[in-house]
Amino acid sequence: MKMRAAVLERFGEPLVVQEVELAEPRAGEVLVRLAACGVCHTDLYTASGADPSGYAPAVLGHEGAGVVEKVGEGVGSVAPGDHVVTLFSPQCRECIHCRDERTNLCLAIREEQNKGHLPDGTTRISRGGEDVRHFMGCSTFAEYTVMPEIALAKINPEAPFEHACLFACGLSTGLGAAINTAGVRPGSTCAVFGAGMVGLGAVAGCRLQGAERVICVDLSPERLELARGQGATDLLEGGEDTVERILEMTDGFGADYTFEATGSVAVMRQALEAARMGWGLCTVAGVAGKGETLDVVPRLLITGRRVAGSSFGGVKGRDQVPVLIDRYLKGEIDVAPFLSHRIALDEVNRGFELMEAQDGIRSVIELS
Ligand SMILES: NC(=O)c1ccc[n+]([C@@H]2O[C@H](COP(=O)([O-])OP(=O)(O)OC[C@H]3O[C@@H](n4cnc5c(N)ncnc54)[C@H](O)[C@@H]3O)[C@@H](O)[C@H]2O)c1
Ligand SMILES: [Zn+2]
Ligand SMILES: [Zn+2]
Repeated sequence: MKMRAAVLERFGEPLVVQEVELAEPRAGEVLVRLAACGVCHTDLYTASGADPSGYAPAVLGHEGAGVVEKVGEGVGSVAPGDHVVTLFSPQCRECIHCRDERTNLCLAIREEQNKGHLPDGTTRISRGGEDVRHFMGCSTFAEYTVMPEIALAKINPEAPFEHACLFACGLSTGLGAAINTAGVRPGSTCAVFGAGMVGLGAVAGCRLQGAERVICVDLSPERLELARGQGATDLLEGGEDTVERILEMTDGFGADYTFEATGSVAVMRQALEAARMGWGLCTVAGVAGKGETLDVVPRLLITGRRVAGSSFGGVKGRDQVPVLIDRYLKGEIDVAPFLSHRIALDEVNRGFELMEAQDGIRSVIELS
């Protein structure tokens, strides 16, 4: 079938929205009609050419939500008409990682996904006979996509797509960092560095876990106000003295849990140093630049602080994204403030500009 999609033709140049060919879903695959898709930093990072593992031509986008249109042979967990959220982090439920509660890093299709292929090593997208690759196994800057069944979370159809799509990446990452990776205990003091989509999700996650105090640090006063709306009790403008200020606010000890959601290694260090001796846990969610390293004074670790990394918030997508969406539908998570701009597929490059200008938290492409 023919469809419109935003194609990365050359790194560092605007995406080109054009008509491409999409083949039928094969065994284990699903055709999804996309309804909404968030524009994320990872899309821009790849489009810019900064990501050394990027490839082109490819259809970008990975924060999608839509409706199952058709299923390939052997697909049993979703059926036409189901509402789904796309998962760049799949869940096969069979590999050694999927069977272990300690991680969400499914091993089933990693290699081919990293090459821009579907699990059988081929692509379903093409243009004039030339293959176009799938981005992060999703390619959701498009009217339709074909994805593996194991990379789709079936959600409550009452959730509006423009909100549901935010659970495909940043929001679940932040929520999950607090709920899964850190497992914040009720009554705790937390400090969240960064109030973008991920950090605001972490603030909400700390609140849902029953934290008593949530300190949020950011450079932008507007973003700090959004953090207050998600449950932050103390707001701090970030700077050189952030660690000292958090120590002062916590009787000199630091926070029980800290979260880093900026991508800056200097802030990761602050987040570790602001964690409490004895049991303070620093969860790193930000993606640092290639080659950058985190500077840690080992004494801080010996005296009981720990550092953990978190990919997609440790969320096992098919099991947990539907649960997070149900909590949102029950009114426990306020998603509306994150949707800053609604744009058309043709305006995808404007979505990148808005992001670079830090105008709002997320632009969402409305597809149907
Ligand atoms: N681990 C994962 O699975 C995963 C998933 C999605 C995104 N990410 C990463 O998480 C990070 C955050 O993503 P986002 O979408 O929220 O980004 P964002 O750019 O919207 O938010 C980052 C925030 O950090 C703030 N910040 C920058 N420097 C600061 C400082 N010195 N002190 C305090 N705050 C500071 C900025 O003002 C901004 O509000 C990125 O690195 C992104 O790549 C990770
Ligand atoms: Zn993303
Ligand atoms: Zn798996």
